[in-house]
Amino acid sequence: MSVIDRPDTIAERLDDKALFRTDSFIGGEWVAGDATTEVFNPANGQVIAEVADVGEAGAIKAVAAATAAFETWKKVSPFERSKILMKWNQLILEAQSDLAKLITLEMGKTYREAHGEVVYGASFVEWSAEEAKRIHGETLDTPFPGSRGWTIRQPVGVVGCITPWNFPVAMITRKCAPALAAGCTMVIKPAPETPLSALALAELAKRAGFPDGVVNVICGDAPAIGGVLTSSPDVRMVGFTGSTAVGKLLMKQAASTVKRVALELGGNAPFIVMDDADIEKAADGIIASKFRVSGQTCVSANRLIVQPKVADQLVAALEARISKLKPGDGFASDSDLGPLIHMGAVERVDALVQQAREAGAKIVTGGKRLDSELGGSFYAPTLIDGGTAAMDVACNEIFGPIASIYRVETEEDIIKLANDTPYGLAAYIYTRDVGRVHRLSEGIEYGMIGINAPMVGAASTPFGGMKESGIGREGGKWGVEEFTELKYVLLGGVD
Ligand code: SIN
Repeated sequence: MSVIDRPDTIAERLDDKALFRTDSFIGGEWVAGDATTEVFNPANGQVIAEVADVGEAGAIKAVAAATAAFETWKKVSPFERSKILMKWNQLILEAQSDLAKLITLEMGKTYREAHGEVVYGASFVEWSAEEAKRIHGETLDTPFPGSRGWTIRQPVGVVGCITPWNFPVAMITRKCAPALAAGCTMVIKPAPETPLSALALAELAKRAGFPDGVVNVICGDAPAIGGVLTSSPDVRMVGFTGSTAVGKLLMKQAASTVKRVALELGGNAPFIVMDDADIEKAADGIIASKFRVSGQTCVSANRLIVQPKVADQLVAALEARISKLKPGDGFASDSDLGPLIHMGAVERVDALVQQAREAGAKIVTGGKRLDSELGGSFYAPTLIDGGTAAMDVACNEIFGPIASIYRVETEEDIIKLANDTPYGLAAYIYTRDVGRVHRLSEGIEYGMIGINAPMVGAASTPFGGMKESGIGREGGKWGVEEFTELKYVLLGGVD
């Protein structure tokens, strides 16, 4: 374990110092690597840790540990699995402040948001612990005289799970907890930007009593580790949250062993505001959806599609709110927006804004980098008016604090613009007209739709997308079923 030699080391910040881990967790042991990867605090660019890179060899070792552990874990009673998951949930909640500190340090989101994420992440563990006892098949009628049929649900096997940096805790628990409940074993590869929270979760999993090899967390070279997880015949499924480009690559790699994939990929969420909507509520909803985690979520509002009659009123309501949002270090109590994950993200977001400006859009507020001013990868919360479908900001997943308004008159054109993207993850509609609720929610191609609601994710509901936003659902009973094989058994007729 290496701690960077600074007075404010991570370990010193934590109540439970043992939660700060930098080695990988394989087969119940902490394992060092041949190399290390630096982890940065995006709020100030400083190196906060050096994490062991266990690379391909570590991935092979972790898959072997998970494969061996599967033989016993799949036979552990669901009631016992449920108890261990409940213990993990309890330990995660008890360590809420420490986990939140790790999230803010390595990812940048505000400490308040990080606390929220830990609670959100734990809710998937609690839900899965309860659901573990309710995974069952059905009896079937068959056309064969005297016979009986039934289905059973069995765990898929070893699952490789590749998770993103924007929710370093919740995206792990949303995949792992249902998989563990179903009886699968896990090899988790967290994003290189945010390994510390993942390794802390591994420490808590060990304390919760998961047998060695059931939960493995490995850090290091992404292509090498991803290559093992997607090509090993011992890994039966790969779950990934991240960009559509990487999702496509993993899917291609997984094809060689016809591996099951669950992909939660990019989004380009339309946030539709109809002229009968409560505009103040719509503005509050946009702030919540767009500026949560500084716009760095797959379900963030990406395009504000507004009927012209209420557009000026909405722009004014948004400008008033956005101008009060304060970017700053996530640990400062008055910060509303943390930094973007790194300087590359600042440059990418700024290019989108500048392209919109050059193409004739109006920058109502923001529209500038704050990195030199604030000393980290910050960007000003921005409102753009006069967006058009051809602008880069409309065609790309922004992943930053940029809201852009598209004025569209008819329902037909609103549906057309909303669907004019390869993505189909989340969408939002603000209206008080029940006819519009049905026509719009049925007309747009999105896996999750919030009506007068800016946030959709919950442990009990299906999270996932259509089109190039992914395959499969996380959360609820659907999230557990993803990790099971449905087996059909026929008992022949008895004379
Ligand atoms: C994501 O950005 O992938 C997850 C967002 C959420 O669960 O709300």
